[in-house]
Amino acid sequence: MKLAVAILISGSGSNMVKLVKSMDDEHPAFPSVVISSRSDAPGLKKAQDLGVPTEVIDAHYFKKNHLDFEKELIQTLKFYNVEIICLAGFMKILSKKFIDNFRDRILNIHPSLLPKYRGLNTHARAIEANDPIAGCSVHLVTPELDGGPILAQSEVLIKKNETEKSLASKVLLEEHVLYPKVLLNFSNQIRKKEL
Ligand code: GRF
Repeated sequence: MKLAVAILISGSGSNMVKLVKSMDDEHPAFPSVVISSRSDAPGLKKAQDLGVPTEVIDAHYFKKNHLDFEKELIQTLKFYNVEIICLAGFMKILSKKFIDNFRDRILNIHPSLLPKYRGLNTHARAIEANDPIAGCSVHLVTPELDGGPILAQSEVLIKKNETEKSLASKVLLEEHVLYPKVLLNFSNQIRKKEL
């Protein structure tokens, strides 16, 4: 049986598309569901076009109506029998309780060479600091924001006249290669442990 992967998004979903496409017949995992925290995320249509089930748990609506976002998220993950969670541009911080529930089963991609530049505006901060290189990291999610064990990284050079935008697109291309690679290794490792 293949491992069921949930991909959590909030926006454009370009990493999600690469992850979904990487899970071919030979892959130990399959994309069981794409869950968005925003009903207007462009990634939703991309997932539907790829034939992946989608669910929306609207973080704004849940907050406004004092509803429990994570309770709904857990129910949805259980419904799809999810074994691996990939955060891919998911703009909601998950609680320690939630993360402990899925211990060592949540991956995230972050657009910096962690431990540098946790949080937002990573590219602007790298340029501002005159860093010679930037990049992206895939890490295990722990309750510490962008602080879990790093599984893999990819680097790009920061050129003289680099802008935040140009750097973001260069790094994003690296993300698209790195995240599927890490998911494949990670899925294989889980498989081995289960044997
Ligand atoms: C990526 O840069 C990712 O590293 C960050 O959010 C962005 C998401 O882009 N966490 P996309 O939605 O995958 O296109």
